[in-house]
Amino acid sequence: MADTVPSIEALLQEGRTFPPPEEFTAQANVRDAGVYQKADADFEGFWAQWAEELHWFKRWDKTLQWDPPNAQWFTGGKINVSYNCLDRHLTGPRRNKAALVWEGEPGDWKVYTYAHLHREVCRFANGLKSLGVKKGDRVTIYMPMIPELPIAMLACARIGAPHSIVFGGFSPESLRDRINDCQANVLITADGGYRRGRVVPLKQNADEALEGTPTVRTSIVARRIGDDANVSMKEGRDVWWDDLVEGQSTHCDAEPMDSEDMLFILYTSGTTGKPKGVVHTTAGYLLGAYATTKWVFDLKEEDVYWCTADIGWVTGHSYIVYGPLANGATSVMYEGAPDYPDRDRFWAIVEKYAATIVYTAPTAIRACMRWGESYPAKHDLSSIRLLGTVGEPINPEAWMWYRENIGGGRCPVVDTWWQTETGMILITPLPGLTTLTPGSATRPFPGVQAEVVDEKGDPVAPGQGGYLILKRPWPAMLRTIYGDPERYVEQYWSRYPNVYFTGDGAKMDDKGFFWILGRVDDVINVAGHRISTMEVESALVDHRSVAEAASIGKSHEVKGQGVVAFVTLKEGVETSDAMERELKAHVARKIGAIARPDDIYFAADLPKTRSGKIMRRLLRDIAEGRVLGDTTTLADEGVVEMLKQQYEDDE
Ligand code: WTA
Repeated sequence: MADTVPSIEALLQEGRTFPPPEEFTAQANVRDAGVYQKADADFEGFWAQWAEELHWFKRWDKTLQWDPPNAQWFTGGKINVSYNCLDRHLTGPRRNKAALVWEGEPGDWKVYTYAHLHREVCRFANGLKSLGVKKGDRVTIYMPMIPELPIAMLACARIGAPHSIVFGGFSPESLRDRINDCQANVLITADGGYRRGRVVPLKQNADEALEGTPTVRTSIVARRIGDDANVSMKEGRDVWWDDLVEGQSTHCDAEPMDSEDMLFILYTSGTTGKPKGVVHTTAGYLLGAYATTKWVFDLKEEDVYWCTADIGWVTGHSYIVYGPLANGATSVMYEGAPDYPDRDRFWAIVEKYAATIVYTAPTAIRACMRWGESYPAKHDLSSIRLLGTVGEPINPEAWMWYRENIGGGRCPVVDTWWQTETGMILITPLPGLTTLTPGSATRPFPGVQAEVVDEKGDPVAPGQGGYLILKRPWPAMLRTIYGDPERYVEQYWSRYPNVYFTGDGAKMDDKGFFWILGRVDDVINVAGHRISTMEVESALVDHRSVAEAASIGKSHEVKGQGVVAFVTLKEGVETSDAMERELKAHVARKIGAIARPDDIYFAADLPKTRSGKIMRRLLRDIAEGRVLGDTTTLADEGVVEMLKQQYEDDE
């Protein structure tokens, strides 16, 4: 890979740092480095000041009620997220500004102004009401990246029905579990979506999921594909989106919501097999998304902002929909794959809409890097003024490649660390202020307090690895795990008293900059997507031929990590290539294609402690070809040696 970008090695060896370009700082939204200290001295006051920029039906009484681990922000306030993202932009010149610029994979495109988007959201919100959806009712959304998706979200927010979006790449079974966990009455889906020229059969998947979801009364189906989709509508349950909104009023009052009313649930993988329903509430989440979008992306009225994420993940929630629209920005959304019809698709989109800000994932950058710089070079990327990354640690080579080949060496690159649970970016440069170092997410956003600590919770010395923790509540923090408050406490707040445990390892350098090292728990980060080892293992042992399975993450050049599984087959079942293929397909079918293992190794036995726990640490050592770590707690040392031998033979 280094061959394609020879100059970058050299740059890295210089240990270069990148101060913000003077012209950038001169126009930046934040120029005063004093913001950090000011926010630190009075973090509640800092957030309260931001809250002044939002529209409130009723002002809040108290900024923060903190009874660890339970936070309530802006108590007593009445506010609506949809109103803040739409209505308040309608009175001035933003009324006819592009709110959403949508590009379909086949090349069709559509622009929604704020006025137009508002109308569509109202019509759909009225449609939901006509189906009996009320404040507090959960609505599951399983859609491709089409405008109806943000319209559905904003309509839910408008009437106070929390949405739960399930990424369109998830399997019917994953969808079913998520619907049942939050007991949704309504599912919104589409007749399909486009991915690399093929149709993703969302409606068929939904039909399969809905066979086991007693709470769902209605399924709304948006038309994306049309006649070719060949879907069957179930009488009495399924209704076409177009029929639902037909004749609905373009006016729908936004429901005044309590600050702490639930805005959405988003399922994410944790350390057990069952995904967690992360709960975000109204005011604090909106505020966090709003403030960070404005400062981290230095968002201006005339920007064309593009976040390449899928709205099925938290990045799309906060930084395609809520953050940008609350700011009255123009937000681009793209339906398809970066390499369809060719590997320059992202850059063609940048050129077509003259995007000024691009926010993507390291995995996408590494893929582009592998394809070579001729693809971005074909396009005029001079409109770009700021670049961002999120989702996984970015290696300095990829950072430099992004800066040089996409940003033309002129644009700051903001490496932003955060999580589904944090709702908003928490560790990040401020592009007009921070001197950047490739590979470091730099420092906590003003008002946020992060630290790297050891097992006991004591801060470690600079340069030492440890656990990343957050010491103060922040407005967009998750409030609980849906239906499982104990898990909320146990997962995030039990390791250290009154401190949020992120599950990430990190180190701090002598400048006080943070370097995120990746997960320290049993979560695998595949191309920026979280998958739990337990989910993969449960999917494998669900197969009739599998006796036992263990899965781990292994470094992958493009995806960051890939899934590797070690499998013991039942007595009498032969190992074979066909069996390997079958098991990979089985996992993809059970969870979704993102969880498909790259490699499966068959083993007569798995390394276990004397108490029977699988030692994943050793499996990771084996998979990475490292010297084996401590094996003293192992019940049978022979197992590991055998596996290691087998693994090496296969490589
Ligand atoms: C990882 C995505 C390094 C991290 C917004 C975290 C990162 C998990 C970065 C959350 C970054 C996210 N540098 N690692 N800039 N951003 N991560 O919930 O391990 O899908 O815990 O949220 O992604 O993933 P999630």
